[in-house]
Amino acid sequence: MTQFGQYPAPTHVIAHLSDTHFLGADEHATGREDECSDGALLYGVIDTHRNLRRALQQLERSGANPAALVFTGDLTDLGEQDAYVSLRQIVEPVAARMGSAVIWVMGNHDERQRFAIDLYDDDPATGLAMRPQDRVHDIDGLRIIALDSTVPGYHHGDITPQQLEWLGRQLATPARHGTLLALHHPPIPTAIDLMALLELRGQSQLAEVIRGTDVRGILAGHLHYATHSTFAGIPVSVAAATCYTMDLSAPLHSLSGVDGGQSFDLVHIYDDQVVHSVIPIGDHAAVSGFSAGFVQRMAALSPEDRLDIFSNKTSTVTVADVEAGRA
Ligand SMILES: [Fe+2]
Ligand SMILES: [Fe+2]
Repeated sequence: MTQFGQYPAPTHVIAHLSDTHFLGADEHATGREDECSDGALLYGVIDTHRNLRRALQQLERSGANPAALVFTGDLTDLGEQDAYVSLRQIVEPVAARMGSAVIWVMGNHDERQRFAIDLYDDDPATGLAMRPQDRVHDIDGLRIIALDSTVPGYHHGDITPQQLEWLGRQLATPARHGTLLALHHPPIPTAIDLMALLELRGQSQLAEVIRGTDVRGILAGHLHYATHSTFAGIPVSVAAATCYTMDLSAPLHSLSGVDGGQSFDLVHIYDDQVVHSVIPIGDHAAVSGFSAGFVQRMAALSPEDRLDIFSNKTSTVTVADVEAGRA
């Protein structure tokens, strides 16, 4: 693809999704259409399967073919086995067609044992499934570390000293394209009072371990709204949920989950920058745009002609000429 601007193509494209909150099968659901859920509706109204299917359809349609799909926790709502099974059934065929690795991260609504056995095929006999679900993934030289920030039996987050020691050991050797740290509880403040009760504890200890390392970005979820900040000098990006979202325009000091605003993120990794872009889930009517064919015709022109046609407000050659093949 011709480079139109100052930046070459990203070295990696990653999709960041979060908080799918799948429930187990709804025994009472019968005769639903293909796109609809075979899992129970969350709060009786949210079709979590349909929302995720739509997100994945949008991703596949885009042709972005991300190198990895990173799911930052709360994959299921109650840690049910059939919820994990249906999640894999929906995600894995799409990931296979796009050539994407799938990276699962634990959330407070998940259960470690089921997560390890149902998503990572861990052998229950080894006892590994009871431990924090920390894993290192190598995505063409980009290291993605999934860190389990959950506390069994609770909804707030924490990371044990043993986990921090393990993380420090991993980060002692830099990766070729650096590291993304993926964890469920974001190490940033939240504007929702009640969510602060469920925040990640011991953040200063985590900061000590990752400050000055090759960690280039932190991916998180849990809040159910998209937000960005920094932590220990490292950019933090929180993906909103695919199930339902928190309405930050609700009256102060309240908490309001709504069926709207669901989204996922694309993460473009460049040599010196990491760019997070929010993609709303859903079919929205196109009102303007240019085809891939138009872009191809633009690519065939000189940089000066492209600038004249697309940027110069008084150009005599218009984009309509390019669309019609007259330029
Ligand atoms: Fe969640
Ligand atoms: Fe959560």
